[in-house]
Amino acid sequence: MISAFAGMLIKKVEILKALLDLDSEDARARYKVLVQQIEAADKAYYQEDAPRLSDAEYDQLRAELLAIEQQYPDFMTAQSPSQKVGAAPREGFKKVKHAVPMLSLSNVFSEEDVEDFLTRVRKFLGLSDSDPLEIVAEQKIDGLSCSLRYKNRNLVQAATRGDGQEGEDITENIKTIAEIPQSLPDDAPDILEVRGEIYMGKQDFEALNKAQIEAGKPPFANPRNAAAGSVRQLDSAITAARPIRFFGYALGEVSESFATTQAEIRQQLSQWHFPVPVIQNHALGMTLKTLKDIMDNYESVSVQRAELDYEIDGIVYKVNRLDYQERLGFVSRAPRWATAHKFPAEQAITRLNAIEIQVGRTGALTPVARLEPVSVGGVVVSNATLHNADEIKRKDIRIGDMVVIQRAGDVIPQVVGVLADKREGEPPEFIFPDTCPECGSAAIREGEDVVTRCTGGLICPAQVVERLKHFVSRLAFDIDGLGAKIIEQFYKDGLIKNPDDIFTLEERNKVSLTPIRAREGWGDLSEKNLFQSINARREIAFNRFIYALGIRQVGEATAKRLAATYGDLSSLKSAMLTAAKDPRFRGKDEHSELLSQAGGSSEYDDLINIEDIGPAVAADLIAFFAEKHNLDVLGALESHLNIQPYEMPQTSNSVVAGKTVVFTGALTKMTRQEAKAKAESLGAKVSGSVSKKTDYVIAGEDAGSKLKKAESLEVTILSEDDWLSLIS
Ligand code: IVH
Repeated sequence: MISAFAGMLIKKVEILKALLDLDSEDARARYKVLVQQIEAADKAYYQEDAPRLSDAEYDQLRAELLAIEQQYPDFMTAQSPSQKVGAAPREGFKKVKHAVPMLSLSNVFSEEDVEDFLTRVRKFLGLSDSDPLEIVAEQKIDGLSCSLRYKNRNLVQAATRGDGQEGEDITENIKTIAEIPQSLPDDAPDILEVRGEIYMGKQDFEALNKAQIEAGKPPFANPRNAAAGSVRQLDSAITAARPIRFFGYALGEVSESFATTQAEIRQQLSQWHFPVPVIQNHALGMTLKTLKDIMDNYESVSVQRAELDYEIDGIVYKVNRLDYQERLGFVSRAPRWATAHKFPAEQAITRLNAIEIQVGRTGALTPVARLEPVSVGGVVVSNATLHNADEIKRKDIRIGDMVVIQRAGDVIPQVVGVLADKREGEPPEFIFPDTCPECGSAAIREGEDVVTRCTGGLICPAQVVERLKHFVSRLAFDIDGLGAKIIEQFYKDGLIKNPDDIFTLEERNKVSLTPIRAREGWGDLSEKNLFQSINARREIAFNRFIYALGIRQVGEATAKRLAATYGDLSSLKSAMLTAAKDPRFRGKDEHSELLSQAGGSSEYDDLINIEDIGPAVAADLIAFFAEKHNLDVLGALESHLNIQPYEMPQTSNSVVAGKTVVFTGALTKMTRQEAKAKAESLGAKVSGSVSKKTDYVIAGEDAGSKLKKAESLEVTILSEDDWLSLIS
């Protein structure tokens, strides 16, 4: 009989070997245990927001279950977990579109990072070192964010953050929370959205878990999961019985402004009876003004942290003046005017049982530590990343060693190092493979790259399946009903081998002898729903499309910038094909200035002038479009899709929307970065070089060659003041 934990950790081959040793009675007993474990894991994950197994452990259980079913098909019933396609996502919550997106925060971890943050803010605003800059430093509550909407001073809606644009409607549940005002005094605006954190106190959490265990229910992993599980209940009576609390810390939509600083927002919220996060070190005053104050505050809060009755995972720094906040604006999904100073990760010691190599979507071979399960800050950890071959060597990590692991927030746990004196005997050094464990292709490291990559590209199953999963994922095509598990099954059965196959599936299914509805776990309705959700995505925003391609280093924010710059697929494609001929492509970037004059293309310049795109990202992008099989996939996709040209946000009433502008020379009223961000927020494209396509050149003081070029191309030239009056 295989023990529960050993069962999770052994590899598939070993599962099969172990099975051969089971007689049918043992197998039936083991099968029962597996069904129970998988059902409990599904429930914990989907209904209680309290995952208790890692994905790998869960997959391992399922693999073992499937292996037994294969050998003993008569064990299987219609209720077997193998017959369900994943577990039903939680139904019953309406979706809510946020009037103002709910953002996340960037993180800082060290004094240097904090200093960088302050310097960035000062630079953006054009403040000198002697100009005052006040910072509000609030506790960062470890809960889940929530937006409360008040209309005519009554609570009318509460929503989770979701993906930042759209969350779940949890109004009925939130109304049961005593700390949240149901109505507001007369001086509150007609429309007011208060954003804040739902959380559970530490003592309340302990008591709740005790009650759960006594009632034979699984305990929650930590207070955050308990709070999330409690508000995401379909039955609001359950929420009402849970000790949920709230802190308000920011605003969403507001019909009249009532504050000029963050400190005033806090004050006003608290007058309207919202609890606000504590500013702990009052000795330093309401706002902090120097790096030293900020670090002193951090030290003292770190120490006081353990004594608080709720969990905080850092301190949030916010620029106090709201006019500054407005000017600073946002980058990607986080404000420039705030950041979170995180506390150090939680650590634990355990044994390294094995090192396995995983192949990622981009072909990167990542070593993963399989660990003796250990609890780190309330979460059971049995896998941790070892990053790459160099890391294993540098830390001299060997199988069997006792290792220190740490986890911070939601990031993947890491192996910090080895306890050398605990090493038993002389275990051999780990030899990193030079072939891909998934497809057997050569695995190589290029140049300075620390990552070993499989060269199998689209023939490597790890990459194809992962690319497909990425393609249908939430921020990409977001195809409901075509989740990761189904992609895996359909790939395995040859139904979907590349992205294009998704859109021909319905046609092929019509003439198939084994249509989808006849598959186990499927029926007429689920088949119909699947095609409906695929068809609903034949129209797709250009930025999502770019993101879906899974090009290395091209995340959601970069995809958006590319979409904003190029507008549509054919412009992007042709620019990348031209840029491919630029001598600077493929890393010969040291002489970029010279090259841009001799033989360099403006397409390449435009590309690396996009915020956050440097030569490395540019190289990955250009390389993607230079690859013939990728162009084939694009061509096939285009024939099935209606890719909508990028629509600039908030552009409708700006005269510069869609225009291409170039700033040159020294600006006096705003920093270059601020000018660029402002122009982009109005829907203009900001380029670094002047061409025939440029609409305006804004020439500051001492403008040089770009001004000359603009004159020769007869591009409209504006002074800084002309520009400001144009956009005002
Ligand atoms: S301000 C526009 N203040 O931390 C930025 N966030 O890791 C609004 N959080 O998504 C966030 N305590 O859910 C802010 N005092 C605090 C916070 C806080 C916790 C959460 C929030 C945010 C997450 C980012």
